[in-house]
Amino acid sequence: MYQTWEELEEACKKCSKCKLYTGRKKVVIGTGNKNAKIMFIGEGPGADEDIQGIPFVGKAGKLMDQAFQGIGIKREEVYIANIVKCRPPNNRNPEEDEASSCREFLNMQIKLVNPEIIVLLGNVALKNILGKEYGITSSRGKWVEKDGIKYLPTFHPAALLRDESKKIDFWKDLKKLIYI
Ligand code: URA
Repeated sequence: MYQTWEELEEACKKCSKCKLYTGRKKVVIGTGNKNAKIMFIGEGPGADEDIQGIPFVGKAGKLMDQAFQGIGIKREEVYIANIVKCRPPNNRNPEEDEASSCREFLNMQIKLVNPEIIVLLGNVALKNILGKEYGITSSRGKWVEKDGIKYLPTFHPAALLRDESKKIDFWKDLKKLIYI
């Protein structure tokens, strides 16, 4: 069992617990400040992330970086991870067995980072972390406190690429992070 970042990263790189390992180029573990106050959780790596081994470096990530800049958050200050660490084929949603195989890694990341706040990006992160009864449309922008962590659900940045009108709410939600 892994107790340290080194052991966790080693276990992720060797992982073959679900079928996603067969198609991966790189395992995308996480990036940023390992002692961050704020952690972001997305869905799973896309094509760019799979190549670089870093979360949110593609188009959706660029949009998130713009929002960070706009509200004065530095990417290096926060910690960013995903529900699954290997790219689902054609960027489909992670399946239940894939998310649950990967969950012990994410749980360990949360334990090690020990953030005050976790921002849940989109429905996949929201439902996996807080429960299936939650939905992003009704939950976004509303704080949920659970087990000593404040969760803030918001849209996944890829949703903003499909529907620009969501940008305003995404920015509004992220702004809540600077007044806390
Ligand atoms: N979408 C995600 O959910 N995570 C990434 O790392 C990239 C795109």
